[in-house]
Amino acid sequence: MIVYLNGEYMEAENAKISPLDRGFIFGDGIYDVTPSYNGKMVGFQLHLNRMKNGLDAIGIPNPLTDGEWEEIASNLSEKNGGQNLGIYFQISRGNEGRRFHGFPHDLKPTIFGMVIKIDSYPKMPDRKNQIGLKVVSSEDMRWRQCNIKSTAILGNVLHFQESFALNKDETIMFNSTNELTEGSISNVFIVKNGIVATPILDHQLLPGISRHMAIESLRSDGSIEVQERVISMDEVREADEVWITNSSKHIAPVVELDEQPVGNGLVGPVWEKAMSIYCKAMFEF
Ligand code: PDD
Repeated sequence: MIVYLNGEYMEAENAKISPLDRGFIFGDGIYDVTPSYNGKMVGFQLHLNRMKNGLDAIGIPNPLTDGEWEEIASNLSEKNGGQNLGIYFQISRGNEGRRFHGFPHDLKPTIFGMVIKIDSYPKMPDRKNQIGLKVVSSEDMRWRQCNIKSTAILGNVLHFQESFALNKDETIMFNSTNELTEGSISNVFIVKNGIVATPILDHQLLPGISRHMAIESLRSDGSIEVQERVISMDEVREADEVWITNSSKHIAPVVELDEQPVGNGLVGPVWEKAMSIYCKAMFEF
């Protein structure tokens, strides 16, 4: 794999970052992943805006212009053979040559880019042939700034591992008052009586780009109602359908939660319709 590091492209094994980099020592940085299909990115400006908001939120100056970010993204896709890729960017606060918590002044951020292989998206979503995901649930033990796409995601990693260790696909989480927050690597939607709902954006969840695209494409199509509101775990367990969204899976149907079937245990019709609306609209974002 060809990666980008601080202005240069190289084979991944030649990319060297100091162990004193604050990204390594503290997880002090921001990352983002944009899907790209044959060099055509989905929602790139939305990903870039979220990345810039994250940098702002933790006080790292954005080291590049939008045009420069876009050029690196397209170079990474081209140098790695195009096709189905997640373009991964990570910016850490940099390396001051010592481990000290306070922010150093005028530090040069470390900029890293690579690609992650992702699946193609379905051109014609078909619920009969779509594999549904199996998930477990767990109380959300992460920090209270989950809206920031920080590289410090040990909390997410531990939650993801809860499902992975059981041979399941994802862990969806609830807060101390039994309200749905999000998945360890995704946002969560439910469907009840044809109405789609997802938790409102706040500090408990990442403002997912695919979440945004799903809501906006469904609202502009107009045939399926989408609500953003507080959702209890009881509602999740009684839902007709549950979906998770992220930039590599887009909208993915869930058929099992905590060893129990979701709805009738099959991929649902609202998913099929929503995914086809989403897929038609996704290159317009
Ligand atoms: N993560 N919530 C969490 C905690 C996530 O990690 C992600 C995505 C999402 C969905 O965001 P988006 O729709 O913008 O991809 C929600 C990526 C895929 C990752 O960490 O690799």
